[in-house]
Amino acid sequence: MHPDTVGQVTAIRPRTEADLPGAAAALVAVHAADGYPVEGVDAPQEWLSPAGILQAWVADKGGKIVGHAMISRPQGEDAVKMWLEQSHDTADHVAVGARLFVAPEARSEGLGERLIRAAFDYAQDHGLRVVLDVMAKDKAAIRLYERMGMQRIGTAKHTYGAGQEIDAVCFVSPTS
Ligand SMILES: CC(C)(COP(=O)(O)OP(=O)(O)OC[C@H]1O[C@@H](n2cnc3c(N)ncnc32)[C@H](O)[C@@H]1OP(=O)(O)O)[C@@H](O)C(=O)NCCC(=O)NCCS
Repeated sequence: MHPDTVGQVTAIRPRTEADLPGAAAALVAVHAADGYPVEGVDAPQEWLSPAGILQAWVADKGGKIVGHAMISRPQGEDAVKMWLEQSHDTADHVAVGARLFVAPEARSEGLGERLIRAAFDYAQDHGLRVVLDVMAKDKAAIRLYERMGMQRIGTAKHTYGAGQEIDAVCFVSPTS
């Protein structure tokens, strides 16, 4: 744990514009530790600001951003197509989960779970199911999603960079 943050209570709260530099710094540390995201973090603030954001959250430990999660409107993702085929539901009932990470020094404190819980609560309040894909290599995230009752809906190939490809697993959130 970071020495400046020992003993601090961590808040999960909606992200503001002012949180972007701190969230970007945490993301760079996560990439160095875990290779997430696979496409790299050359422009972390831009990567944290994709089109269609519904809501993003941060984990704020005494003013230091140590975690992040986001849900967005569907943009043709394979996982969403898969879920719509299986459920016969429509895309306006779906939110895409993405950009989940916790800084290495703040892991195993339940922050990942609390960030996802915030996304699930928002989705439930808005009549949305959360659909996401996770790289098959990101085992801690897969354990977390399964512990939180997410169901596997299939597998996909995530393509990035100059034609690189990596296996992904697709999940949908539980109904309650
Ligand atoms: C996946 C990730 C977000 C999890 O974050 P986290 O804050 O460590 O998650 P949690 O603390 O909720 O759970 C992690 C573990 O700590 C345990 N834990 C939670 N609270 C705990 C506590 N108070 N004391 C001890 N252990 C605890 C959980 O049971 C879990 O155990 P497991 O590793 O055996 O499954 C983090 O590992 C990460 O950022 N990974 C890299 C990025 C990534 O893969 N993102 C996925 C995008 S799809």
